[in-house]
Amino acid sequence: MKIGIIGSGFIGGTLVRNLTALGHEVRFSNSRDPETLAELASETGATAVWAADAAQDADLVILSIPQKNVPDLAPGIASARKPGAPIVETNNYYPQQRDGLIEEIEGGTPESVWVSQQLGEPVVKAFNGIWYKHLLEKGVPAGTEGRIALPIAGDDEDSKKFVFSVIDALGFDPFDAGTLAQSWRQQPGTPVYGKDFGVDAAIEALSQATVERSAEWKA
Ligand SMILES: NC(=O)c1ccc[n+]([C@@H]2O[C@H](COP(=O)([O-])OP(=O)(O)OC[C@H]3O[C@@H](n4cnc5c(N)ncnc54)[C@H](OP(=O)(O)O)[C@@H]3O)[C@@H](O)[C@H]2O)c1
Repeated sequence: MKIGIIGSGFIGGTLVRNLTALGHEVRFSNSRDPETLAELASETGATAVWAADAAQDADLVILSIPQKNVPDLAPGIASARKPGAPIVETNNYYPQQRDGLIEEIEGGTPESVWVSQQLGEPVVKAFNGIWYKHLLEKGVPAGTEGRIALPIAGDDEDSKKFVFSVIDALGFDPFDAGTLAQSWRQQPGTPVYGKDFGVDAAIEALSQATVERSAEWKA
């Protein structure tokens, strides 16, 4: 399938590598000239493009950039994807280390709901809680003991199913973590965040999450 990736750092770059390895046609971008991505393009065979062109005709779009930079994206950046193609976003709000204050999120808007509002598009939340190195290296076939589970939140069942199949092919156990409004359960600071749990432990961890942001995760 055709996959467009906006943001090609630790997570986006890992997905460029692993999705091209699965045979997908990947176009990927950062905030600069695609020439700056020549090395990763030649390593993987993926095509480096301007961010504004990454989603062109894509079956799947992945957005993986610092939360604070989402409002900088060009309006309609994902609108040239195929009709109904899901947009996965991997982002986290790191107010103290990177993003500064985003008032709506501090006020209780789930991080992915805020991203969806900025884009004016539905999104599916995935990959936000796995360290990039584990995403790069720890994928294993379905049924393998210790396979890492990844929670997927979103409002459109078909989009979620589609994303499930991509995550399974990457070597992880996708599971339904509910709607985008419920996706605060997998944000930074929650029991599931950053843990390499299997499905049962991950579901239990989601159920133990509390909605208040801890001091560490406030601006
Ligand atoms: N690192 C992890 O293990 C990890 C795990 C899960 C989730 N996350 C989350 O996933 C997101 C990406 O994390 P990361 O660690 O991959 O970040 P990163 O290594 O800092 O990479 C960020 C990427 O986003 C690009 N970018 C920034 N602003 C952009 C814009 N306006 N348009 C297009 N591209 C833009 C950057 O391009 P330039 O180089 O041109 O600035 C860079 O390619 C973050 O929200 C992070 O919290 C990270």
